[in-house]
Amino acid sequence: MEITARLLAVASFVREGAYLCDVGTDHAYLPIYLAENGRIRACLASDIHEGPCESARVHIAENGFADMIEVKRADGLAGFVPREKTDIVIAGMGGALICEILEKAEGIKSADVRLILQPMRNVPDLRAYLYANGFDIRDEKLAREDERIYEIICAEYSGEKRSVSELSLLLGEKNIANKTRDRALFSAFCEKQAAALRKKIAGMRTGGADTGAEEALLEELRMQSAE
Ligand SMILES: C[S@@+](CC[C@H](N)C(=O)[O-])C[C@H]1O[C@@H](n2cnc3c(N)ncnc32)[C@H](O)[C@@H]1O
Repeated sequence: MEITARLLAVASFVREGAYLCDVGTDHAYLPIYLAENGRIRACLASDIHEGPCESARVHIAENGFADMIEVKRADGLAGFVPREKTDIVIAGMGGALICEILEKAEGIKSADVRLILQPMRNVPDLRAYLYANGFDIRDEKLAREDERIYEIICAEYSGEKRSVSELSLLLGEKNIANKTRDRALFSAFCEKQAAALRKKIAGMRTGGADTGAEEALLEELRMQSAE
């Protein structure tokens, strides 16, 4: 099973020998890849829709992992009980939906559980939700596919609630700390965020709103990128 840079970055955060729950599995490429590479003990691959569940079952059977990867139709983490060393992946969904799924989940506030999240939008809101609910962001990665840059968050429950700066919510503290891992990618990521912020500022100016805070954030972004 070949997987792309985005799913490879997600996979890199899955612990060796973990029990995996892949929420919104769709084609089940991620669990198949991890099973094929001997990285997981077993997996529950779930999806809210029957079509993706069927597609997952077909791919899993074709690859010979039907005894290791169970497919279940479910809304988010409904009915799921984490075991010891459980890694929960929620990838390819909006940040607001990921927050909703986490909010309704049971048993995830445990040191045994790791959350690996790849939101498609509203990433700062997801970071804020994690910090406000006692989850510590242990690491983050950026992955580029064609022109798109994806953000992958690895979090675990610590019980310590935090509030962090707007810049940290926008870029991710770990992405900032590790910017030298791939400076070109980090600069492109800053530029993408700056472009969105400039657009927001232009809209606010048209409406006559005060843009002071946004302009200060834009300057912080410029400095992060240049440093
Ligand atoms: C864009 S696909 C992402 C597939 C895969 N996780 C990936 O990252 O490549 C999103 C999947 O999430 C499923 N989904 C959407 N809302 C869901 C929910 N509340 N619970 C479980 N699955 C959901 C959709 O049916 C779809 O198959």
